[in-house]
Amino acid sequence: MEKLKIGVLASGRGSNFEAVLNNIKAGKLNAEIKVVISNVSTAGALEIARVNGIEAVYLSKTNFGSQEQFDDELLKVLIDHEVNFVVLAGYLKMISAKVIRTFHNRMLNIHPALLPAFGGKGYYGKKVHEAVLNYGCKVSGVTVHLVNEEYDNGPPVLQRCVPVMENDTPESLAERVLKEEHKIFTDALILFAENKITIEGRKVKIKA
Ligand code: GRF
Repeated sequence: MEKLKIGVLASGRGSNFEAVLNNIKAGKLNAEIKVVISNVSTAGALEIARVNGIEAVYLSKTNFGSQEQFDDELLKVLIDHEVNFVVLAGYLKMISAKVIRTFHNRMLNIHPALLPAFGGKGYYGKKVHEAVLNYGCKVSGVTVHLVNEEYDNGPPVLQRCVPVMENDTPESLAERVLKEEHKIFTDALILFAENKITIEGRKVKIKA
């Protein structure tokens, strides 16, 4: 069993990061969160990290001369903290090819819908759930996927359905989906920690 040394990237409140952290504390996942990085200085995720004694780093491209300089710094922070696995937990920026290559097949994102539906650029936060409701879907769900160079496009690792109710609002659907997010992210990480994942092209296979 491998101990995952996780670097978290998050832009917002950080409830997915917190759920993973709580599962580590509860002994469900053999991992350690080494650093939390955010492009938003006021992100809740940074505060949760600080409260838990985890290094919290604010890193925004706006403070760097070029994308390359930003990428080098991001990689430096991850490597300096001995990160061997990256978790995007509500990170709203694109990750560049260089960073993705460094953590090839070792970087996961969570998306609050069943990809490839309702994913890609512009589909984030409330907009995803609004689109699901406007389409009249009967189910939505969660996708945890490997990260490649396109938004929400990497191979799925786990997907789970969440029912849509007739009187749902984007908020009520988001809440139901979020409950599943808080379980599925850890479940996916456990598969990596237990070395149960093999990747063949776009197919992520799970050993029994
Ligand atoms: C989640 O819905 C996640 O699926 C999406 O962004 C949201 C982040 O929420 N990518 P939180 O910051 O983890 O609470």
